[in-house]
Amino acid sequence: MIRTRVLRPNAAALAAAAKILRAGGLVAFPTETVYGLGARAYDASAARRVYKAKGRPADNPLIVHISDEAMLEDVVRQVPPLARKLMDAFWPGPLTLVLEKSARVPGAVTAGGLTVAVRCPGHPAARALIRALGEPIAAPSANLSGRPSPTTAAHVLRDLRGRVALILDGGSCRKGLESTIVDARGRRPVVLRPGTLTGETIARAAGVPLAAPGRAAPAAPGTRHRHYAPSCRVILAPPALVRRGALAGLGDIGTGLVHRTPWPGRRPAYARRVRGGVGAYAAALFSALRDAEAAGVQTLYVETVPDRGIGRAVMDRLRRAALL
Ligand code: TXA
Ligand code: MG
Repeated sequence: MIRTRVLRPNAAALAAAAKILRAGGLVAFPTETVYGLGARAYDASAARRVYKAKGRPADNPLIVHISDEAMLEDVVRQVPPLARKLMDAFWPGPLTLVLEKSARVPGAVTAGGLTVAVRCPGHPAARALIRALGEPIAAPSANLSGRPSPTTAAHVLRDLRGRVALILDGGSCRKGLESTIVDARGRRPVVLRPGTLTGETIARAAGVPLAAPGRAAPAAPGTRHRHYAPSCRVILAPPALVRRGALAGLGDIGTGLVHRTPWPGRRPAYARRVRGGVGAYAAALFSALRDAEAAGVQTLYVETVPDRGIGRAVMDRLRRAALL
């Protein structure tokens, strides 16, 4: 067990964080999607510490985070025209590109694979940390493996206290769902994991239609694993059911999106109503799963959304949180 410090990402904290990373240690940091658990990307033993701290399966590679395009040169073998287009359109931002890895990226980061997932985050504290280190940072989400991704420093602390030296607290993550992962090695983009940046938007920027995942570009290994699960049982509830008040307590919570106990007349132990569109719903989802768990909820009903646009990413996470 190590002592875990939580600090606002000011200049002193960023310097301390860079020092820890340089020594092969781990630092959790905010991004616009979810918090990451970072290690020096060019250090195989540091990367292995990330797997150990999270209890992450060894076959699930990490994402390499860079602060600017100049850093990309050392991470990948080449930047194909499609990747260039998508980078120009969406970096910094919630887009991860899968490309051929350079010799410098250790197999410990890519789970032995010849491709590397790379992204330039939009959150200023994330980029400031990478700049302070002067090198790319390998980072998966900063949760224990299988749990909902963290969207606040408190979520990270709950999972990784004693397993990470420092958590940079940058408040709540704006997007709240992990980045969209796109294989950009070929002529057409292949979405390997949906995110808040939608396939439609990516295809428009690419100027060509998406291709489906297949043998050459299989879905991200992480999407095979059970995921995003709080300790409560998650049950998906169609909106029609919720609107009809079949899920109890609706008098109190309006069109409550995330709540418990389907019996009319009983107040749920936990209820969270999300105002705004599906983007707001996405941003609230993981924190709602964790809040319900903290409230001692055993069965959690979560309202589903239409499976398109950002809703695709929401439903991808919800289905995997609800697997038995
Ligand atoms: O928004 C995000 O993506 C956040 C922040 C911290 O950047 N990161 C994140 O990482 O959520 P996480 O825990 O989802 O793990 C990385 C994902 C896994 O699903 C993994 O399978 C996939 O990226 N991945 C990594 N390298 C890959 C590769 N070479 N090919 C395909 N998928 C890859
Ligand atoms: Mg993750």
